[in-house]
Amino acid sequence: MKVIIFFKSNAFSLSMSLEKMTTRKIIEKKKKGEKIVTITSYDYSFAKIVDESNIDLILVGDSLSRVILGNKNTLSVTMDEMVHHTKAVSRGVSNALLVGDMPFLSYKVDIKEAVKNAGRFIQEGGAEAVKVEGGTEICPIIKAILDADIEVMGHIGLTPQKIYRFGGHLVQGRNIDAAKRLIMDAINLQEVGCFSMVLEGIPWQIAKIITNQVDIPTIGIGAGSHCDGQIIVIHDMLGIFTDFKPKFVKYFANIGQSIREALAKYREEVENTAYPDRDHSYEYPLNDLNEIDSWIESVDIQEESLKLKKN
Ligand code: KIV
Repeated sequence: MKVIIFFKSNAFSLSMSLEKMTTRKIIEKKKKGEKIVTITSYDYSFAKIVDESNIDLILVGDSLSRVILGNKNTLSVTMDEMVHHTKAVSRGVSNALLVGDMPFLSYKVDIKEAVKNAGRFIQEGGAEAVKVEGGTEICPIIKAILDADIEVMGHIGLTPQKIYRFGGHLVQGRNIDAAKRLIMDAINLQEVGCFSMVLEGIPWQIAKIITNQVDIPTIGIGAGSHCDGQIIVIHDMLGIFTDFKPKFVKYFANIGQSIREALAKYREEVENTAYPDRDHSYEYPLNDLNEIDSWIESVDIQEESLKLKKN
């Protein structure tokens, strides 16, 4: 269990964890039968709250494309955008394991480019591992990234970078051949050296079989409760991104509504001058203020201002 100590000094509080999460510790958690709690983040402020909340792993997901950049799917986000946000997240993270999600076209076109792009997440972004979507067919790419000493998380099932080939956001592994293929993909991801893998959008029974067949942790999203851990998009679970809601998304809060209510209140208080009140304004010494009032009455301000311009 992670212990968090708070030191309070003046207005600032500093949180320090006694335990930094690593890929090894993530694997150990599976061995100990402890669930692995993971979530996405895309900026400093959210990442800091997530990190202070005892979350094991933070993924800077390519879901950034939808929930932050407003694109219609994950295919549009670029390496530069992913690295930019990973950098911001890394500034807020001291405890969780930070994983960068390799975007569409950043690792399947050329193996050397894949290694370089994975390296950018580590060197520029401050991530500690990368995630790639795909099974057996991308094992040579994963091996090359691992050979460059970069830790890799796999991702199989309903991999969103492949939606046009799937024909939409369709649950995967729904027939015997497809389920067998997923099980073998998972084994091959383990064999090549992934430290964990995301199982997305697959029937819970198939996720359970995979979880029992591999020693590395399975992290589910739309894959039922038998996975070793869970991941969810933070803007989905907080009710901030509500453009569409897959079956597996649960709203753990309605922050979107809280934001709307806060904005309505802000508008009202600005309009009726309730905000800012004296408590939220800076005070000026009364004597000095009297002097300014007398000065205004005794001079021609336009002239004084002109003089200032000429000086
Ligand atoms: O991009 C993402 O957020 C993801 C996770 C939800 C697995 O890939």
